[in-house]
Amino acid sequence: MSEQWTPTSWRQKPVAQVPEYPDANALNAVEMQLAGFPPLVFAGEARKLTRALAKVAAGEAFLLQGGDCAESFAEHSADTIRDFFRVFMQMAVVMTFAAASPVVKIGRVAGQFAKPRSSNTEIIDGVELPSYRGDIVNDIDFTVDARTPDPRRQLMAYRQSAATLNLLRAFSAGGYANLDFVHQWMLGFVKDSPQNSRYTDIANRISEALDFMRAIGIDPESHPEMRTTDLYTSHEALLLGYEQAMTRVDSTTGDYYDTSGHMIWIGDRTRQPDHAHVEFFRGVKNPVGLKCGPSLSPEGLLELIEILNPDNIAGRLTLICRFGAENVFKHLPALVQAVKKADKTVVWVCDPMHGNTIKSGSGYKTRPFDRILEEVKQFFAVHEAEGTYAGGIHLEMTGSNVTECTGGARELSDEDLRDRYHTYCDPRLNAEQAIEMAFLVSDLLKAQRQQRGGGRGLVAAE
Ligand code: PEP
Ligand code: CO
Repeated sequence: MSEQWTPTSWRQKPVAQVPEYPDANALNAVEMQLAGFPPLVFAGEARKLTRALAKVAAGEAFLLQGGDCAESFAEHSADTIRDFFRVFMQMAVVMTFAAASPVVKIGRVAGQFAKPRSSNTEIIDGVELPSYRGDIVNDIDFTVDARTPDPRRQLMAYRQSAATLNLLRAFSAGGYANLDFVHQWMLGFVKDSPQNSRYTDIANRISEALDFMRAIGIDPESHPEMRTTDLYTSHEALLLGYEQAMTRVDSTTGDYYDTSGHMIWIGDRTRQPDHAHVEFFRGVKNPVGLKCGPSLSPEGLLELIEILNPDNIAGRLTLICRFGAENVFKHLPALVQAVKKADKTVVWVCDPMHGNTIKSGSGYKTRPFDRILEEVKQFFAVHEAEGTYAGGIHLEMTGSNVTECTGGARELSDEDLRDRYHTYCDPRLNAEQAIEMAFLVSDLLKAQRQQRGGGRGLVAAE
């Protein structure tokens, strides 16, 4: 591992989850073209995110990361992006209030196109074709043509990411993130929720806090920072040819950054320490995530930390834990203890989605809302027991009114799943379920804050 890193050094290593492109020349041509395109993000933004995540590592902020399991070319519209933005902002306001600390917002968006698969092929009615690997690789239709990896799709993914990011930047900076608007949307959610009484208390207290601030002259009209927000992008950097093409030297520091997104993460299937993904990640300076599933041992984790963050830079490494509600206490304490003992600075995040996927009676892949919430609770309980900081949640969610996860205030049933099951990959929380999750997590955030003796002023006094 101590060999010289270059943006291409991953090519000397074994690589998992790689698509088989039929035409190597066509693939090369696309990668060359991408390498000449403008970066999607600027290295200075990635550094700012590392600093924000350092605050999370120190227990002074909380991370909200979420978005589609897989973005798709078909679901690319202004409404989809706007609805995601609105829901994400509402979640962040509720959580900021509960935690009485900043919430760092990172979307699984503007680049989340490549998917790892448990099998290279899929068989339907005796016909075997390559698995769907995300719109950046092939098409979900079950035909030979559709499933054959096509490098030109990388250009489409790049352009869609640019357009999505452009609108998100416009919303973030252009006034749509105004705290008063977000608060009104949130009150609308609470009014319409069948579980309305569970949420009104927090909603009312946020209203009072805003009224108080307005009374003393702090409002979005006089304070521009209350009209804007920082929303960062992230994705699983799985398709390494694409990521390499987007990797550039930052002229101010001379360091390499993967400019396809602010944060990139390594999936649970591609974290072998001597393989290509870990090799690529060790050399770029972005903040990086590492999915930690049940097969990761404490020694394995420490080895990866040493490779990915040898200088123990705060905010560089986020550990995204996804064990399944029943397995958190079986796996997480040993990892937390090992990291603590080795004195490594990391951000601990809970992904309560990927360990809680089941096949419903009606045949759909789904996730019960209560299991998702239960994993988050277990995650907080482990950190409370270990005296460490539960730093964030990582959700698969959408701003649309889909029916993919069961449960929630509307008690979506197995039967309901067929109504609007739109995901290209894993089942997502819909808009209402996602905001509900933020309200329910806020109890945990408040308890953590009180336990750590944090919080100031108005909020801490209640
Ligand atoms: C994902 O985040 O969509 C994913 C595939 O997760 P994991 O690598 O944890 O299975
Ligand atoms: Co997923």
